[in-house]
Amino acid sequence: MEKLKIAGGYPLKGTVRISGAKNSAVALIPATILADSPVTIEGLPDISDVEILKGLLEEIGGTVQFTNNDMTVDPSAMISMPLPNGKVKKLRASYYLMGAMLGRFKKAVIGLPGGCHLGPRPIDQHIKGFEALGAKVTNEQGAIYLRADELVGARIYLDVVSVGATINIMLAAVRAKGRTVIENAAKEPEIIDVATLLTNMGAKIKGAGTDVIRIEGVDELHGCRHTIIPDRIEAGTYLILGAAVGEGILIDNIIPQHLESLIAKLREMGVPIETKDDQAFVGKASAFKPVDVKTLVYPGFPTDLQQPLTSLLTKAEGTSMVTDTIYSARFKHIDELRRMNANIKVEGRSAIISGPVKLQGAKVKASDLRAGAALVIAGLIAEGVTEITGVDHIDRGYSHLVEKLNGLGATIWRESLTKEEIDQMKNA
Ligand code: EPU
Repeated sequence: MEKLKIAGGYPLKGTVRISGAKNSAVALIPATILADSPVTIEGLPDISDVEILKGLLEEIGGTVQFTNNDMTVDPSAMISMPLPNGKVKKLRASYYLMGAMLGRFKKAVIGLPGGCHLGPRPIDQHIKGFEALGAKVTNEQGAIYLRADELVGARIYLDVVSVGATINIMLAAVRAKGRTVIENAAKEPEIIDVATLLTNMGAKIKGAGTDVIRIEGVDELHGCRHTIIPDRIEAGTYLILGAAVGEGILIDNIIPQHLESLIAKLREMGVPIETKDDQAFVGKASAFKPVDVKTLVYPGFPTDLQQPLTSLLTKAEGTSMVTDTIYSARFKHIDELRRMNANIKVEGRSAIISGPVKLQGAKVKASDLRAGAALVIAGLIAEGVTEITGVDHIDRGYSHLVEKLNGLGATIWRESLTKEEIDQMKNA
């Protein structure tokens, strides 16, 4: 086990290249199960979620090669092996194995997913979709059992706009008989990316990226090559840290349209940002204005960036409010930021940040992926050394974080945890 150490308070400069999107990757990899010949996905990020999914595909009989960020999956020998425990518990997105295995084999046994603890994260809408397509779904001792004689297209209205349910129902429906219509679908770019891969595999999908997706089921899907979209949340994290400690940072390999809500907010704070083709340049702000932010489904402000933004808001001159309408308890980073001298209180679903304060280096713990990103940004801002434990959360979603930050001139490194620190973590 490792911790991150950051000697903060120094300006960053230079160019950073954004990796492939984690939240696409974790759906694209299970989607390969639906094909009957090899699928290659280009540009995957080097993150632990990708490694875990690679291992899961191998467990069910897939042959997987992963070199230089390109993964080729031969799914022809896969079987519907039950996966009630083990690796599936390590990531939330293992729920995509349900849709993909149900779609191909008409049966699956998958342990209930793990992932970040952000408050209740039910999967009732996924299950509602599978049942509408004709599957019998039961929960037996923490594993979901799915079985169907055949899957038949249906009209499914999502009661909650859900990225995961939208993608999972697409996965289950592409090889079902007849037409499926998903209403009140989520519109995130990752959904379009998955629909593009499936279409390249021979699926018939219309409307991905709108709130009504229409799917005509096909009997078979074939192999193809697909290039993943860039990670808008990783890009957003670098935009925010560029605003916080940058003296001119160029963020390369992005789709600026995917970041409009964040860029608008940063500009409102007084951060100079220019976008061009697949790049954004963040300049140095003379001062930061406070802002109010409410997270919403795409194209609204992403919940995944509210925690990183909170660290920047400690520098704003006045009171800012961050409200998370998606997750009720995505505020575990706040106590840690307080240890670093931040002046923040949480009221219900809102964090109220009073600034400006001078953050001080401290020993802090990342409780989830984006909390980790928030603490890295805070550590870069803070005077002195910050030590961050819970690095495994950060490694789930940020490809080559230390190398990328050092490339911008940061002083950040990994160290092994001492035995006492490991004991403390186990007892916490
Ligand atoms: N919800 C339900 N029932 C469901 C599904 C969702 O009530 O069946 C609720 C959730 O509890 C939540 C809201 O609907 O309040 C939205 O959840 P959604 O299903 O859209 O989230 P998700 O698909 O599980 C993905 C990302 C998250 C990101 C959210 C929201 C992946 C693997 N994860 O989660 O990413 O926060 O969409 O945009 O794609 C992250 O990257 O750090 C992360 C947590």
